[in-house]
Amino acid sequence: MPRKIFVTTALPYANAPFHVGHMMEYIQADIWVRFQRMQGHALHFVCADDAHGAPIMIAADKAGKTPQQFVAEVAAGRQQYLDGFGISFDNWSSTDAPENHALAQDIYRQLRKEGLIAVKSVEQFFDPVKAMFLPDRYIKGECPVCGAKDQNGDNCEVCASVYAPTDLKNPYSALSGAAPVLKSSEHYFFQLSSQRCLDFLKRWTNAPGRLQPEVLNKISEWFKVDEQGHGGLADWDISRDAPYFGIEIPDAPGKYFYVWLDAPVGYLASLKNYFDSGRAKARGEPRSFDEFLADPEVEQVHFIGKDIVYFHTLFWPAMLQFSGRKVPDKVFVHGFITVGGGEKMSKSRGTGISPLRYLELGMNAEWLRYYIAAKLNSHVEDIEFNPEDFVARINSDLVGKYVNIASRAANFINKRFAGELRFLGDTGPMLEAARATAAAVQESYDGREFGKALRDIMAAADRINAAFDAAQPWVLAKDEARLAELQDVCSRALQGFRLLSVLLAPVLPALTRRVARELFLLDRDFAWSDALALPTRVAVYQHLMQRVDAKQLDALFEPSTPDPAATAAAGSIVLPLPGGEAIAPTITIDDFAKLDLRIARIVACEKVEGSTKLLKLTLDVGEAATRTVFSGIQSAYTPEQLVGKLTVVVANLAPRKMKFGLSEGMVLAASHADEKSHPGLFVLEPHAGAIPGLRVR
Ligand code: 2FM
Ligand code: ZN
Repeated sequence: MPRKIFVTTALPYANAPFHVGHMMEYIQADIWVRFQRMQGHALHFVCADDAHGAPIMIAADKAGKTPQQFVAEVAAGRQQYLDGFGISFDNWSSTDAPENHALAQDIYRQLRKEGLIAVKSVEQFFDPVKAMFLPDRYIKGECPVCGAKDQNGDNCEVCASVYAPTDLKNPYSALSGAAPVLKSSEHYFFQLSSQRCLDFLKRWTNAPGRLQPEVLNKISEWFKVDEQGHGGLADWDISRDAPYFGIEIPDAPGKYFYVWLDAPVGYLASLKNYFDSGRAKARGEPRSFDEFLADPEVEQVHFIGKDIVYFHTLFWPAMLQFSGRKVPDKVFVHGFITVGGGEKMSKSRGTGISPLRYLELGMNAEWLRYYIAAKLNSHVEDIEFNPEDFVARINSDLVGKYVNIASRAANFINKRFAGELRFLGDTGPMLEAARATAAAVQESYDGREFGKALRDIMAAADRINAAFDAAQPWVLAKDEARLAELQDVCSRALQGFRLLSVLLAPVLPALTRRVARELFLLDRDFAWSDALALPTRVAVYQHLMQRVDAKQLDALFEPSTPDPAATAAAGSIVLPLPGGEAIAPTITIDDFAKLDLRIARIVACEKVEGSTKLLKLTLDVGEAATRTVFSGIQSAYTPEQLVGKLTVVVANLAPRKMKFGLSEGMVLAASHADEKSHPGLFVLEPHAGAIPGLRVR
């Protein structure tokens, strides 16, 4: 019986492009999805942008955009990654889509009807300048324990103490710098601590096979209440006060859902959007969204990272259960991908490899899919991207063991037998071995033991190569009397290659599509059953896959920002800085004096044709003639925003010949060390009264 499965990956915040951590999750889920589709199961695979919340609202404001504009621009960049890495989502939507507004409000109304919503007054810091309540991360101040300055609202990065924002000494708003004031307001809570929720969650989390053992362990800690009655689940604050970019709470003017309430609802909203668009129907699903979800046989599966387990195994199932909906069947949790020795590739720090750069360098997306698959298992373990290991696995395993079988065997078949395959003797044992391999691999894929699946596939490749070599086809080819043997040896190798191709299809969809169509002349992609059928002909072998060139990997790694730990070890005190890089080594005043910084007026500004980065600025630096400066700030400014403004220019920088003309200086702007994951550029502007030509010192 075909299974009916609804699969999601975590919805990424719509404030930055994807980093390799996102791609790892999508690749993991995509392999599982493609595998299930090959088994003939009906599967719908959706995702969406997570658009709401204070950080996005604030980032949009800083960029001079509405939040809607801001998230739309990020969303517009998504497809190139998904296409580039072969991720086969059926739909991509947004949590700001109308379906999500309606569904989140419905769910809330149902929870309220169930008596699970409480209203309590909460006292919080309020920024009197920005006229808004401050999320903890935007409150800074001195650590109440060690006195370190500029610490976050909830913990000190110098002495590692944890505290409440109200404990900070001399707190200030990171948004306006103003001293926050305490103010109370009504908040809405989902009563997770109610006995009904607890009973349900204990049952749901403990269902056999639903959660990985390590995840279940973690959850049981959250359930624990100590002798003093501390711990256990607390009610969840689901409201935020205006101004907030989010979904309005019904019957509560000025209140919005906290982003984490409507984010997972986005899974359903994206599915609904897909069903309502008619595309689910086009893919053979005759039912409506509501009918589909009402089917108890439909399995709901979420792939997520280990940092968001709480939301997906407590809040989300409880919200669904008590609003009378299907609850998730499986939550598959993965670890992080690290690059260069354990540095986490998190949402906030996209350090390491940039997926777009990977594609721009012409690197094969399926190398990365294969490498990631080879490292993944069903546990919550971090995986390390290791360049040497990457090269070895692609070049020795994928190309050396797998691809080479086809090139060697198909050449004989085409040169000597006009493409025709023929087997001598009993093919039973060969097919029996193939069946056993396919069964083991099938079980591994289904259980997300991708590393094991690939090890089994490569072991089969070793056996196929060994049998081919042992038969010495190059010797047979010289003996007219043994040509039938040669044809048999090559046919068996190609049957083996076809088996491997079918088994690798979930990981290497583009490559194996070519193998199916170009080499085995099918008019479709591989089906799982092709693993055991005997092929009858092959076409002339076309080159299938390039080896990795180690130089490509060098180019892939972005220049690394100084490691704060290493700098600290070298003797200086390093506080974590929001710019993502440590303070540069000390210079003398004489070093500084070599820089000639001048006030300049931007008298004209235009986009540079043929460049998406540069603006061409005409600057009055108080000299007889104006200067031309090319500046990489097009992502942050339109020419109109700059014309007439004063700024600061490095006036004695050696002129630089650029593709578009000579650049005679450099305009100063602030940015994060890793602009990809922290977009935002801020051109410097002097206080009123400065005039062009004044030296900055
Ligand atoms: O952690 C994150 O990146 C969130 N944007 C994930 C949301 S998953 C789901 F709940 F939408
Ligand atoms: Zn401290």
